[in-house]
Amino acid sequence: MQTITSVSEMQSLAERLRIQGQRIGLVPTMGALHEGHLSLVKLAKEKSDVVVVTIFVNPTQFGPSEDFTKYPRVLEADLAACEAAGVDYVFAPEVEEIYPKGYSTFVIEEHIAKPLEGASRPAHFRGVTTVVAKLFNIARPHVAIFGQKDAQQVAVITKMAADLNFDVEIVVAPTLREPDGLAMSSRNRYLTNTQRVEALVINRALRKAVEMVASGECRVDRLIAEATHLIGQHRRVRIIYVSVVDRLTMEAIKGEITPGRAVMAIAVWVDEVRLIDNEIL
Ligand code: PAJ
Repeated sequence: MQTITSVSEMQSLAERLRIQGQRIGLVPTMGALHEGHLSLVKLAKEKSDVVVVTIFVNPTQFGPSEDFTKYPRVLEADLAACEAAGVDYVFAPEVEEIYPKGYSTFVIEEHIAKPLEGASRPAHFRGVTTVVAKLFNIARPHVAIFGQKDAQQVAVITKMAADLNFDVEIVVAPTLREPDGLAMSSRNRYLTNTQRVEALVINRALRKAVEMVASGECRVDRLIAEATHLIGQHRRVRIIYVSVVDRLTMEAIKGEITPGRAVMAIAVWVDEVRLIDNEIL
């Protein structure tokens, strides 16, 4: 496994691989890798010949009062995990390499990025689409893997890739969970034991919605009311949103859902830790 930190080196490597006819699979991450990230690597290995993992804590997707400086950075451990997972190249640039002094160009998706995460984190997706567009131009992947854990991110990136004619196949990987149901996340390491137990209600609320749909309840207001009720019993957990949206457009669904097309998306604060999760209904 080789670690690359320079954009030009990554670009010439991608060019060489393409000339050799190798299919490049890209897994963009912000590091602090867990089994969820590694499941994306596994999928990338199945879908390509050469796997490139990017590790870059992207400053432009964090709001001014968010956890950019506190975000976990454990590069050595991440490199070991990548090596063990059979990654071929890690691209881990410094911030100045991606955003040199005077950087001024951003990519903005204007619809899907608006609700949910976009509403509570206004510049977040502008940062995500900008960095992912740059990573596509730098690593020139044939296929890029993203996790369903970030359902809106998947929808926004898929739309961006289509709108901007990126010649990249976007593949979505299912959410990996801890045995108790908590969705794996780099931010879980911020949780104390007590907060972690409280956080389990997110998955319980989502599972309840899945069960309700399985037993024929398709009314959005009923699904949201039940999830809100369950979460509301936990004093440390504050709801940012509980929404049922179309899984492609992220538009709120009114009335009844069509099973398979809808997503229940939840964002909460557990004390000062912000967590998101979702299930396809
Ligand atoms: P990060 O939060 O590090 O996540 C990297 C990728 O791992 C994303 O595609 C995310 O959806 C996926 N992922 C996270 N937790 C997962 C889980 N429990 N199961 C399956 N996949 C999971 O998402 C980002 O970084 C950034 O926004 C990025 C796309 C890298 C742009 O900076």
